[in-house]
Amino acid sequence: MLEKIESILKEASEWSAKSAQDVENFRLAFLSKKGKLNQLFDEFKQVPNEKKREFGQELNKLKTKIEEKFSTLQEQGNESGGHSADRPDIFLPEVPDGLGALHPLTLTRRRISEIFARMGFNSEDGPEMETDWYNFTALNFPENHPAREMQDTFFIAKGKEQKDDTLLRTHTSNVQIRLMEHQKPPLRSIMIGRVYRNEAISARAHCQFHQAEGLYVDKNVSFRDLKDTLLHFAKEMFGKDTKIRLRPSYFPFTEPSAEIDISCFICKGEGCNICKKTGWVEIGGAGMVDPFVLQSSGIDPEEYTGYAFGMGIERIAMLKYDINDIRLFFDNDVRFLSQFKGA
Ligand code: FA5
Repeated sequence: MLEKIESILKEASEWSAKSAQDVENFRLAFLSKKGKLNQLFDEFKQVPNEKKREFGQELNKLKTKIEEKFSTLQEQGNESGGHSADRPDIFLPEVPDGLGALHPLTLTRRRISEIFARMGFNSEDGPEMETDWYNFTALNFPENHPAREMQDTFFIAKGKEQKDDTLLRTHTSNVQIRLMEHQKPPLRSIMIGRVYRNEAISARAHCQFHQAEGLYVDKNVSFRDLKDTLLHFAKEMFGKDTKIRLRPSYFPFTEPSAEIDISCFICKGEGCNICKKTGWVEIGGAGMVDPFVLQSSGIDPEEYTGYAFGMGIERIAMLKYDINDIRLFFDNDVRFLSQFKGA
């Protein structure tokens, strides 16, 4: 037994470690349940009583020396570039990633699609890089007309004629024309996507944002249908006590046109900072599709009428989740995004 103790002591003292794995191998070889030290303690049980004292002392010395050696190896590992703040210990079990959250704009887009899907609107999509024709001319913004100044545009390339210029779409209304060109009424679609305007970025406005465009064309579609649809949407989105107000406005592609306001559901119409003390907040524009637009898309305005609306998704999300700065949507800050877990 004494020989065994000596040989194990020699083996342990000569052990050198170049990596955390070597240190771990030392522990497994000498100190683990099935390690050499425990095996010796098992054998010690068979030692005759008169030798127990002598062997026991030697065994305990061996144990202390192996434990000291293990501590030394660990310390050396730390000093010579083992794990440290900038060199993590790759042998530690991995820390599980937290469960992610959907972006508040995704949550809002999905909710809008859901509400309109239940009213029979199908989802459609259109290009973000668009020609002047679909973004402006076909929507009754005459070439070089001052109405185009309503939407300051990022131009990409000049075409042969002005209607062929390419640009980043300034609204989702381009999809109205693309749809009407290829589908015949009845048409009932919701079109959600990103749009761009050359605007100064502030807490309420951005140069990139999202819109939800609605279009309904059929026989006998009236302004009353538009109002009913928007009211139903507002109640579903913001709560059943929500009211809407349509303020007369101007868009070249609708006649008559209106701005859509919803009653401020934060102060219940009493006046607060969100509604600038008016009790109302604007979320979009709407109106009856101008006969010129129907005609330029190949639909007979004598037979069909339609309504359209376009709402800002960031504005809706800001109201819904009480967010006071539009820039937060695009900052990619996890402290903001993680607040939408379970929303
Ligand atoms: C339009 O874009 C029209 N196309 C809407 C429309 C569609 C009218 C169909 C009639 C029929 P407007 O420029 O007002 O309209 O924009 C609509 C909404 O987009 C605004 O009410 C607002 O909610 C949002 N919006 C506009 N500019 C910005 C911006 N810079 N940042 C964030 N949201 C914006």
